[in-house]
Amino acid sequence: MIRMGIIGYGYWGPRIARNFHDANGCQLAVVCDKSPEALRRAKQAYPSVLVTADAAEVTGSGQVDAVAVVTPVWTHFNLAKAALDNGKHVFVEKPLTSTAVQAERLIDLAARKKLQIMVDHTFLFTGAVKKIRQLIDEGTLGKLYYYDSTRVNLGLFQHDINVIWDLAPHDLSIMDHLIKAKPETLIATGQIHLNGFEDLAYLTVYFTDNIIAHINVNWLSPVKVRMTLIGGEKKMVVWNDLAADEKVKVYDKGVEIASGDGVHELLVSYRSGDMWAPKVEQTEALTTEAKYFIDCIQKNQTPFNDGAAGLRVVRLLEAADKSLKEHGKAVTL
Ligand SMILES: NC(=O)c1ccc[n+]([C@@H]2O[C@H](COP(=O)([O-])OP(=O)(O)OC[C@H]3O[C@@H](n4cnc5c(N)ncnc54)[C@H](O)[C@@H]3O)[C@@H](O)[C@H]2O)c1
Repeated sequence: MIRMGIIGYGYWGPRIARNFHDANGCQLAVVCDKSPEALRRAKQAYPSVLVTADAAEVTGSGQVDAVAVVTPVWTHFNLAKAALDNGKHVFVEKPLTSTAVQAERLIDLAARKKLQIMVDHTFLFTGAVKKIRQLIDEGTLGKLYYYDSTRVNLGLFQHDINVIWDLAPHDLSIMDHLIKAKPETLIATGQIHLNGFEDLAYLTVYFTDNIIAHINVNWLSPVKVRMTLIGGEKKMVVWNDLAADEKVKVYDKGVEIASGDGVHELLVSYRSGDMWAPKVEQTEALTTEAKYFIDCIQKNQTPFNDGAAGLRVVRLLEAADKSLKEHGKAVTL
């Protein structure tokens, strides 16, 4: 039985707590939050679980084997480090840390202590991303051309990070999982309107093999959109995460170019075949992810969303900040 401590019971913490509480092989042992109101909610949901306002009582507890850090990003490093120092495995919210150096230090510490770090890249556990990964791995899409994502809504404004650090970790972790080519260059542009942090931004990532990605993140959109297009040589995917069903659609559409008789003549032919919506698993992503974390600890197995995966995302976020500061100057990765 893995005894789990949760630090941070604000917006996302209750979801994490519920999924670890319900996971086989796991016991929710303690919930920590600085806010008395959050602790009151935790006690109401789990009357038999210990609650505390002091994170050190979780990271240093003899009754805890693993700690989930579900607090704002600037607190992740210190809390995760304290947990690892005390021999606990850690499940850390995205993005793993505020800097790549911090992520490297956590990875190093976990390796020395033979402990697991898992980063909550939640979307990797959704039926949609699993299906798209399968389509790519099986070669259904053919050579990849592009990844194009729109992730916009009104708010929730964060007071400590810009919209890129809030929303783009989802796309960056999905890209990292789906695209085998290496990211080479990143360009980020954005604008600040309200609270001193960019509230909308556009990221472009150039990969090897001519793959390009574009991500649009925005807290000032009147409507919520979660739409990703993935273009391949053979097939193209449209993933609308807000669709009630048929979230993923695969289009047999494409373009073929052949040389004509004349040297400068190009013959462009468009393929417009069927569209189908593959069956996509409906299980809540966090349920699968919580179970996987427990399994990885019990089997002493490194998760695929480990510290290294978290570090790759943090490096892209740091590059985005650097590019933003210079109005979209290309940053080599
Ligand atoms: N994976 C996802 O889809 C997803 C979704 C939302 C948020 N998140 C991540 O979850 C984390 C938390 O986000 P949120 O929206 O829940 O924030 P939040 O502000 O709603 O909640 C954070 C909670 O942590 C508590 N806290 C902060 N520092 C603490 C400390 N040192 N000790 C004890 N409690 C402390 C605060 O009192 C608050 O209740 C962030 O890293 C965010 O990026 C991930």
